[in-house]
Amino acid sequence: VTNDPERGALPGGSARGRAGSGGAGSGGADDAAVGEIRDAAVVIEGSRFAWVGSRRDAPAADSSLDLGGRAVIPGFVDSHSHLVFAGDRAEEFAARMTGTPYSAGGIRTTVAATRAASDEQLRANVARLVTEMRRQGTTTVEIKSGYGLTSVDESRALAIASEFTDETTYLGAHVVPPEFADDPAAYVSLVTGPMLDAAAGHAKWVDVFVERGAFDADQARAILTSGAAKGLGLRVHANQLGFGPGVQLACELGAAAADHCTHLSDLDVDALASSGVVAGLLPTVEFSTRSPYPDARRLIDAGVTVALASDCNPGSCYSSSMPLCIALAVREMHMTPAEALWSATAGGAASLRRTDIGCIAPGTRADLAVLDAPTYLHLAYRPGVPLVTQTFIAGRPV
Ligand code: NIG
Ligand code: FE
Repeated sequence: VTNDPERGALPGGSARGRAGSGGAGSGGADDAAVGEIRDAAVVIEGSRFAWVGSRRDAPAADSSLDLGGRAVIPGFVDSHSHLVFAGDRAEEFAARMTGTPYSAGGIRTTVAATRAASDEQLRANVARLVTEMRRQGTTTVEIKSGYGLTSVDESRALAIASEFTDETTYLGAHVVPPEFADDPAAYVSLVTGPMLDAAAGHAKWVDVFVERGAFDADQARAILTSGAAKGLGLRVHANQLGFGPGVQLACELGAAAADHCTHLSDLDVDALASSGVVAGLLPTVEFSTRSPYPDARRLIDAGVTVALASDCNPGSCYSSSMPLCIALAVREMHMTPAEALWSATAGGAASLRRTDIGCIAPGTRADLAVLDAPTYLHLAYRPGVPLVTQTFIAGRPV
């Protein structure tokens, strides 16, 4: 893949998004911080990058593709989504825009629709959304269950998700379903027992929605530790709708990610910084729920590793767009364009504890998005414009 000499730009490589940890500085991440190479070329062998550098120095290749000076970025790593569902909640969204606040209760509407759907309907919905994501440059996506909430429905959601990604997450603890409303403890026993047994074979991760109206710290600790005992990695929906114990629990248990992080105390920020738990920020949720955005600068300046993800789901945010996440992170959350690009690629990889994706470097998987723009800055500079013209996964166009 070869870029045009006049306008070429290839951000990627040794990108960094942790301001304060070296070159990025507090709020000062720039093109150098993201590892941009102008007039660049990459060589792909099989599914991996074999060489990255200046076009002038590129080794000979069997075939080449001239991208005409377009910017090339690592494919987006979307570390948080809920794609296995049926129906939508457009009316709930409309009501929210006239003042009804978002609450976890809407999840039960989607649970009823998902239980009633066939495998084919659920599979088609995931396929449609994964296609939509790829068109927007996403090359890795984590997909959660969480709209089945029976052993059969959670395990079939994960089996379907695993047809599309290796990054599958068991979220039996999304909310307590209506049939257990009078006995939440019995539901936690199901989630930590037979449902986990049914789901674990299809899941890499376990997640809990720690929130008032969902699960408290003790319930969540039981669910996460039972998942860990089955070999699952830990993720947490933490501190989304209010202050709470989610972040502290994620740090105590060594989770890979604490996602949302909208309402954080100073102790929460300190715990994230010292534990290395990745804070997943999901700005399209705040956009779609008309809520205050998380304080990305406070986290980055404290040395917390930040990932940006879509949280695509039918309730709090029905957007699959990582470019929109970047635009919001820059415009509304004061991340620099370089920090936002890093968090949407390498940050997502860190959240999934992956080192083989999220940057353009020899040996990593050849996942790329080609932008119809001369530089990645246009992702934030041209919000809402479909700039991704081509997406490559493992060296192949998709
Ligand atoms: O991450 N917060 C919990 N779960 C999703 C929303 C799910 C829904 O509203 O259907 C989220 O925002
Ligand atoms: Fe979520």
